[in-house]
Amino acid sequence: MLTRRAFSASLLGTLLAPMVPQASPAATEASQATGSLHQAARTTGRFFGSAVRSDQLASEGGLLAEVVRQCGMLTPEIHLKWNSIEHKQGQYWFEPVDELVQICRLNGLALHGHTLLWEQGTPAWALRALRRKKDWALIENHFARVLTRYKGDALRWDVVNEPIDTQSGRKNLRRNTFHQVFGASYIERALHTARAYAPDAVLMLNDYSFEYDNPVDADRRKAFLQLLERLKADGVPLDGVGVQAHLDLGKGPLKRTVIAPFLREIGQLGLEIVVTELDVKERDYRASPSVRDSRVANEVAAYLDIVLDEPAVKGVVTWGMSDRHSWLKVEPGDRTNTRKYGNPAPNRGLPYDARMRAKPMHNVLEQRLSGRNV
Ligand code: XIL
Repeated sequence: MLTRRAFSASLLGTLLAPMVPQASPAATEASQATGSLHQAARTTGRFFGSAVRSDQLASEGGLLAEVVRQCGMLTPEIHLKWNSIEHKQGQYWFEPVDELVQICRLNGLALHGHTLLWEQGTPAWALRALRRKKDWALIENHFARVLTRYKGDALRWDVVNEPIDTQSGRKNLRRNTFHQVFGASYIERALHTARAYAPDAVLMLNDYSFEYDNPVDADRRKAFLQLLERLKADGVPLDGVGVQAHLDLGKGPLKRTVIAPFLREIGQLGLEIVVTELDVKERDYRASPSVRDSRVANEVAAYLDIVLDEPAVKGVVTWGMSDRHSWLKVEPGDRTNTRKYGNPAPNRGLPYDARMRAKPMHNVLEQRLSGRNV
């Protein structure tokens, strides 16, 4: 386990070395074979980015070099969440985010503010204090601290993360601590509070499971649109939405007739859309790596062919670059056969494999982002 001090010192070392550090042989291999996804996206007026962790960038020079080459935007995967910033009340840990900000500034990248309010990303002390005191100042102080510190660096903010729950929510809103303490209006209150401290940022709601043709996703799309319509009608400062796009090979084919009208309605509300957390969960791990990679690439191609036809979609962000760091695990119920290909992990749903070699998903991203759909 890297201590905080060792972690900071190691990243500092990396930063003080040549800014784009020596690429590892694997990364060089990838670099020669592939173009930059952000450059591809720029040709069609969009951006490409990835979720990253500064501790991983610090210890893997090849990863850092490739991230800087491929991305125009970085999302802190965990370190901007409240439970990382202030795990213990009053003790702040900004370094990992500050280090990402440094990487962004030095290389001309933007930062995505992920995320201000998410129950799963809230420290236990804050959840307890909110229930006990019912005091919005707890939230306002957190927003003020983070928004002020990263003003000018974070262009967009996921102000509220994952507010929708059509299965056990109340009127389709998740019964999280914020809802229980402040009622359904916690969402507009969060957006107003964010606007007070980030007058120029794009303020967003970010949520998942909008992609597939099944009753749960259909309800979620409807509930999300209703929420967005209500917020816009009430003049709440909401500028955009994040669709996470954790694609899933077990959920059936992606359909234009399902996804396109949903995105179009969001666009018609005057909101911009970012694909914020793209990756692909495999369900059948029994095939060869190359077969698995082509299934993943085909799913991403099908998705991008639909979403990139929508002008409201401003950028695509993958939830990590390399399978080595994927948050997706092989789950009970997934189909595996370890006899032929051994351990199926990691899941292969990101643009690079665990050794930083670009995969077909990278080619698909590059083609689609540059508008070459062949
Ligand atoms: C996940 C990270 O990838 C994990 O490392 C962490 O343990 C939990 O959070 N939706 C989100 C992201 O908005 O913040 C989540 O990230 C993945 C699901």
